Amino acid sequence: MAISLQEALEEIRELVYSPGFVRAHAKGVTIRPVMLKAGRRFQVVTRDGLDTKNVTSVDDVLAPAAWTVETTSGTVRMQLTKKGAILHRSSSSASPELEHDRSKEHLLDPGDALFDVVGGNAAKRRQVDAFLRQLPRLSGKVRIVDLGCGNAYLTFAAYAYLSRLGIDVELVGVDVREDQRIRNTEIARRLGWPIQFVAGEIATVELEPPDMVLALHACDTATDDALARAVQWRAKWILAAPCCHKDVSRQLRSKPSKLLTAHGILRERFADVLTDVVRAGLLREHGYDVEVVEFIDSAHTPRNALIKAVYTGRGHHDPSLTKLLDEWDIKPAMVEAVSARSVSGASG
Ligand SMILES: C[S@@+](CC[C@H](N)C(=O)[O-])C[C@H]1O[C@@H](n2cnc3c(N)ncnc32)[C@H](O)[C@@H]1O
Repeated sequence: MAISLQEALEEIRELVYSPGFVRAHAKGVTIRPVMLKAGRRFQVVTRDGLDTKNVTSVDDVLAPAAWTVETTSGTVRMQLTKKGAILHRSSSSASPELEHDRSKEHLLDPGDALFDVVGGNAAKRRQVDAFLRQLPRLSGKVRIVDLGCGNAYLTFAAYAYLSRLGIDVELVGVDVREDQRIRNTEIARRLGWPIQFVAGEIATVELEPPDMVLALHACDTATDDALARAVQWRAKWILAAPCCHKDVSRQLRSKPSKLLTAHGILRERFADVLTDVVRAGLLREHGYDVEVVEFIDSAHTPRNALIKAVYTGRGHHDPSLTKLLDEWDIKPAMVEAVSARSVSGASG
């Protein structure tokens, strides 16, 4: 039943000031409680995630809008109508996260208003936040490409996080799917963010060389293409979290060491390790310092390894890499991808 706008807003206000308040959001704005040293405050994030302030009163923020208010005992959604507003109530409750200031726990809060626009489920938001933690300390102007960007959760999150830090970030998202390009370009336009999206194959897309290459779960050998392009571009930083590793697993199927390859699941796990060992080795040969780390707990994604590399120019040929490939008689996709780009080997 419709009630007056004033009555509806008063009820929304009461919920926001109640002890069980967890989060409220409307188009372009999110409010949540935070516990600061100075006491309980409201954190208000506006301009689709670009501005954040902590305040004691949100009266001026609670203008008529399609508010959704989550509390520990339920959710209320305000629908604007010609006659006033309707309040829809549901019992789906949220957990308070007041014990600490979440902005310290997350670089980009999973409740950040940006995700209201960009979407992404809870697991993806956590992955993206964990991925951002692995970024090097940056300053000034940085050109970044996100290869195999998909719905561009990472691309948008990286832009939000870095531009809030004052970095002059130029970002390009690449995905083979034209529908993703259209979707992502439209979101960037709505946000007013200068992110460019390109539909194309990672292996062949024509781009200005970036300072940093990101690849989060680019499928199978798309990660190899991403790494090979980074090497070709001499990108200073690479952060790549590989996805499935079918390529080497397929090649191992016919190998004589049945102990290691007879069982599908073991062959796949062994192929995962072997593939990433080869990837890291090739990056070292091409002048990168490489670390392979777990960027997020495996409870959030089983694909939780991250290849982090920084270009030093001190590459050298590693005979043990050739030996490893010979012993297993495999030709992983990255070997092909790097040589297809005619990237010269050890440098410096
Ligand atoms: C698993 S999704 C990950 C998307 C995104 N990075 C994320 O983490 O949400 C992999 C994406 O890579 C894209 N992709 C796969 N192979 C590709 C290729 N060779 N060139 C460009 N994009 C590719 C797919 O279209 C898909 O959107």
